[in-house]
Amino acid sequence: MTKQSDLNPTRLRHVLGHFATGLTVITGATTNGPAGFTCQSFSSLSLEPALITFSPARTSSTWPLLREAGRFTVNILPAEHQHLAAQFARSGAEKFAGVNHWPSPLGNPVLEKSLAWVDCELHQEYDGGDHTIVVGAVRALSARADAEPLLFYKGSYLGVRSRAGALESVA
Ligand SMILES: Cc1cc2nc3c(=O)[nH]c(=O)nc-3n(C[C@H](O)[C@H](O)[C@H](O)COP(=O)(O)O)c2cc1C
Repeated sequence: MTKQSDLNPTRLRHVLGHFATGLTVITGATTNGPAGFTCQSFSSLSLEPALITFSPARTSSTWPLLREAGRFTVNILPAEHQHLAAQFARSGAEKFAGVNHWPSPLGNPVLEKSLAWVDCELHQEYDGGDHTIVVGAVRALSARADAEPLLFYKGSYLGVRSRAGALESVA
């Protein structure tokens, strides 16, 4: 059992890493050109009104640019985009190098072959400790039927074979 004194970031990351998630890249068209960052903390939030949420770290240099634009697209990654999850997680790197993308209805970069994309306007922001809780109002969205999701579990990338019902590591 964990005592209060064990609640350090390493322990939190280890235990909370047992919650498997999909992965997204949140993109926007900013004054500095296309911008984006890998984001695990995405979740659907409300159906009526249509809202989603995610949490950028207070240290993120990309989030202030997307906030200023007031709109962004959540790209839900397919298993074949594992390399993009790593590429968009490097601060300051040429994140869009070699990445094909096209403009969403709101003008944000949609990454080619995304499993799904959700086009949003910034709705609200709330304090979330060392992160910010962002709520986006959904304006347009679409999904592919022919691809498997990229998953993140205990610090590793995974693919899922839904028809076989078995997990397959792609790390
Ligand atoms: C698997 C994975 C999940 C991540 N999830 C988040 C997240 O939910 N929120 C966040 O702020 N950063 C997250 N990051 C880290 C950001 O992608 C990274 O800090 C960011 O790209 C830094 O660049 P920036 O300074 O341009 O924002 C994640 C990284 C990886 C590899």
